[in-house]
Amino acid sequence: MAEVVRIYEVGPRDGLQNEPGVISVADKVALIDLLARSGLRDIEVGSFVSPKWVPQMADTDRVLAGLTLLDGVHYAVLVPNMRGWDGFAAVRVPGVTYEIAVFISASEGFSRANLNCSIAESVARLVPVVRAAEAAGVAVRGYVSCVTDCPFDGPVAPDAVARACEMLRDVARMPLSLGDTIGHGTPETVAHMLDAVTAIVPVTDLAGHFHDTGGQALANIEVALEQGVRAFDSAVGGLGGCPYAPGAPGNVATEAVLALLHDRGFETGVDAHAIAQAAAMARAIREKAHAG
Ligand code: HMG
Ligand code: MG
Repeated sequence: MAEVVRIYEVGPRDGLQNEPGVISVADKVALIDLLARSGLRDIEVGSFVSPKWVPQMADTDRVLAGLTLLDGVHYAVLVPNMRGWDGFAAVRVPGVTYEIAVFISASEGFSRANLNCSIAESVARLVPVVRAAEAAGVAVRGYVSCVTDCPFDGPVAPDAVARACEMLRDVARMPLSLGDTIGHGTPETVAHMLDAVTAIVPVTDLAGHFHDTGGQALANIEVALEQGVRAFDSAVGGLGGCPYAPGAPGNVATEAVLALLHDRGFETGVDAHAIAQAAAMARAIREKAHAG
């Protein structure tokens, strides 16, 4: 039987958060609803973060309210603090499977730029969020950013990434997504980083999150596959970036990741034709936003 790889679609959040133009709630809802019918089980749909920091995600409550929520799909949102948790909790529909993602950085420079605090402070801030999610029965995922390079501090030591992972896992045994936030990772730096992280976190609890600045994202996924990683984040149409990581381009495209995985004989449960349709819609939304 073919081995399964899980795809986390992050385009509606990591992709659209970086678009300069205005994207309507209706367009976001249409894209997410189309993605939800493609066989994807995990879709990150927005963020309950400060609208002053990331204006594109300010409508996440309305996006969640507009979705046709399907059984079997996990709808994920980023939550940095209790204010974000309260925003999410206010619009949550009973019976729907949600996931929240908490996020920290392996480098102090990016932590300051993205969260306005140190790594240690960001972990302290997310503890009550994780406890609230646990009490409400909502799954939690953890992101560690800058796992090979930081736009402010330069190369990041594998041990620093392992320490950041440990800090999150000390809060709760959550699955972790390892973010090459600015896409400077190479197969070599990714392999060294994974050596350090898999020494302390079971590889089954890890996902790779590669941006494609250096055009190395697929090669980095291949290295991660060799090291046993079986979950990857990607963005339909290659949407993406991070507003607080200068030079961060799109996430690796979901359609490219699917092509690679299906070619290698992995099963994803995701229909490549449906994703191609969604990629066309994502491109049209982006063009409309740029034109507007
Ligand atoms: P701060 O300014 O230090 O916090 O921001 P604050 O508590 O002083 O709040 C400032 C203002 O924001 C206040 O409003 C708060 O009420 C409000 P004011 O009193 O000035 O009118 N506020 C909020 N509003 C709505 N929802 C909230 C919220 N919290 C505060 N949850 C804070 C700290 C964490 C809020 C801010 O730094 C922030 O929102 N950062 C998020 C940045 C972000 O979303 N970045 C992109 C996602 S991470 C990423 O892309 C990387 C990833 O893809 C992986 C990878 O690639 O590596 C995940
Ligand atoms: Mg990202």
